[in-house]
Parts: sequence; C-alpha cells; structure tokens
Amino acid sequence: MYDNWHDLKTACYKCNKCELCSTRTNLVFGVGNPNAEVMFIGEGPGEQEDLKGEPFVGRGGQLLDKMLAVVDLDRNKNIYIANMVKCRPPKNRDPKPEEQDQCINWLRNQVKLIRPKIIVCLGRISAMRVIKPDIKITREHGIFFERKGTLLMATLHPAALLRNPNNKPAAMEDFFKLRDKINEICDHTYDKQGG
Ligand code: URA
Repeated sequence: MYDNWHDLKTACYKCNKCELCSTRTNLVFGVGNPNAEVMFIGEGPGEQEDLKGEPFVGRGGQLLDKMLAVVDLDRNKNIYIANMVKCRPPKNRDPKPEEQDQCINWLRNQVKLIRPKIIVCLGRISAMRVIKPDIKITREHGIFFERKGTLLMATLHPAALLRNPNNKPAAMEDFFKLRDKINEICDHTYDKQGG
C-alpha cells in the first residue's frame, strides 16, 4: 500500500502484473478529485478510454456526464471515477478473474487514500466485486449498503443504458437518491456557501 497519491499513481503506471499491460495504449488510472467524498467505480477501459487514458470518455461516458450534471456532480470537481481494472481487455471482453485479482489492490489503495463516504458501482461487474458477489443489479440498484462506515450503491452501467434506453429513468432515480444522500451526509461535495 502506498500512503500518498503521487507514489501510488507513479507505481500503477508502471504496472505489468498481468498480460493486459502488453496490449494497452494507456493505463487508465482514474479521473477526478482525490479529495472527493463520492467515488464511482466502473469495470474497465474500452477503446476510447485506452486511447485517451481517461475513464468513461466514449458514448457511455458522455451519458454518464449528463446524468452526473443533473445532480450537480462533475468529474473535474467533486467526484472521483476509477475502474476495477486499469487496462483495456482486448476487444472489450470481460476482465478475467485473475486480471481482476492482480488489479484490485490498485483500486483498494485508491479507496484507502480517497476515503469516500459513498461509493457508486457502475454496473454488475464492479457491484459484484465491491458490494456482494450475488448482487442482482436489476433488483438492487439504488439501494445503499453500509460497510465499515462507507455507503455502497450500484446503478446500471451507462453502456447498458445505451443498449436499453428504457432503463434510463430508473437509473436517473438512483442518481436522485445519491443526491439526497450526499445532502444528508457529505460536507463539501455540494458547495454549501454557493447559490
Ligand atoms: N466502461 C467502464 O466500465 N469503464 C470505462 O472507463 C469505460 C467504459
């Protein structure tokens, strides 16, 4: 475990613990404010993310940014976004269990340094790993689970919403629940001086 963000990031960028390092263009460490109270966790980089070195920059990412904006969240201001795995699996296949196992400590270290009050899992893969292995995302999205003082919630993955736009209102409800919870327990996510 690294005790500061700079050392963690520097070490992570050099990672060659699994074979995904040999096919990546860029490692995708994460984006946002490392002092955020709210952290989002996706699955892994796709093609656009691999090219740019930033999470959620493709079509799904644009949708995510829009939904975030509705509840006054901004990847460049008051949240942090990371993925379960930092390198793109070829042809966007699911990350293999052994790749996830090799990569998860980077995420654990990120969570340890950020100490978020709320973690939102984007999609099933991250929800299974972070919340519980048997989570049923269709039934349990939008529900807050508590673990060691941190609230965990899953929502539908933006890519799934692009495939199935009928689910967008349900996913937006999750973001409204998130906004309410932020107002309840967070200190500085929403600038309380402003307005
Ligand atoms: N899907 C993810 O889960 N993460 C990204 O960064 C991009 C797409």
